[in-house]
Amino acid sequence: MKRKILVTGGTGYIGSHTVVELIEAGFEPLIIDNLSNSNIGVLDGIRKITGVSPVYENIDLKDYASLNKFFQKNQGIEAIINFAASKAVGESVKLPLLYYRNNITSLLNLLELMPKYDINNIVFSSSCTVYGQPDTLPVTEQSPIKPATSPYGYTKQMCETIISDTVRACHGMKAILLRYFNPIGAHPSAEIGELPNGVPNNLLPYVTQTAMGIREKLRIFGNDYNTPDGTCIRDYINVVDLAKAHVVAVSRMLDKKNRKPVEVFNLGTGNGVSVLEIVSAFKAATGVDVPYEFAPRREGDIEKVWADASYANKELGWKAEASLEDTLASCWKWEMKLKEAHDKEQNA
Ligand code: UFG
Repeated sequence: MKRKILVTGGTGYIGSHTVVELIEAGFEPLIIDNLSNSNIGVLDGIRKITGVSPVYENIDLKDYASLNKFFQKNQGIEAIINFAASKAVGESVKLPLLYYRNNITSLLNLLELMPKYDINNIVFSSSCTVYGQPDTLPVTEQSPIKPATSPYGYTKQMCETIISDTVRACHGMKAILLRYFNPIGAHPSAEIGELPNGVPNNLLPYVTQTAMGIREKLRIFGNDYNTPDGTCIRDYINVVDLAKAHVVAVSRMLDKKNRKPVEVFNLGTGNGVSVLEIVSAFKAATGVDVPYEFAPRREGDIEKVWADASYANKELGWKAEASLEDTLASCWKWEMKLKEAHDKEQNA
């Protein structure tokens, strides 16, 4: 019998890639998603890659009664990977209550229901945003947690605390908190990828849409930072590599290999890459130019951050493997696939 894993936010960007990796590793993922920032077509992509159509229910995790019903109906779930959350930093500043209610209530409902259905294991999507602007680089899991720069960031910090307190109080429960750096790229099949609604906030979808001619120019936010070329530095990690880390984390808890009831891992490559370097690496990987201009700094941006991922490498036996070039090529393949689908729809 395949081991059942609930993936909340399983039609989202990282969630869908993780569902694919879980299926390929022999698990049975079940998906809950309210499609607030994804679409139902993602399920087709998952089926095309894996040949499997996972159980899917459109449930809002804030709805305790529906969630309870879901667990009643789907007994035997052994672990939860909780991706479902609102994630736009800028939006969270404008709509703080939406972020606190959505991200916190959803987690509280899951944690309250876990013991009722004998589910002991949870993997949580956290973020390097919890480190703020670190004093020293690269950041390790021991680097201090800094005041967040947005309500979104605070929800990640609070959720980490809520999980840690709950695990401490609840014998037998275990959690792994995964702090992601900047996930980019798409599945090599281009059947799933990042699909932001409207104008993208994140760098890579903006780069590919500009390369495609959907946007006129990439605006690079700030070229007067204290970095070698003046633009911000991030640790960009391939989304499939990131997804694989979730399979390792779930297996670690199910196989009782975790060292402590709550473990924290940085998931990054260990390499810092500037915005300008992304633009030139994209050209090198795809042959396509990305017109850009420099624009004022974006409020709340961190100047530079990259991971020390050696703890995850050693403890999880996991490593980000894809090259930046291959990852950027996968972004482009996905953008071209989206265009093809769009053109087909226009001509239908
Ligand atoms: N950038 C541009 N132009 C754009 C978009 C982004 O220059 O049009 C720059 C940003 O200023 C930043 C870099 O590209 O320097 C990366 O920006 P992203 O928006 O892609 O990513 P962030 O690092 O700002 O945010 C990401 C996630 C958050 C997470 C955060 C943690 O989107 O969810 O990393 O640091 F919290």
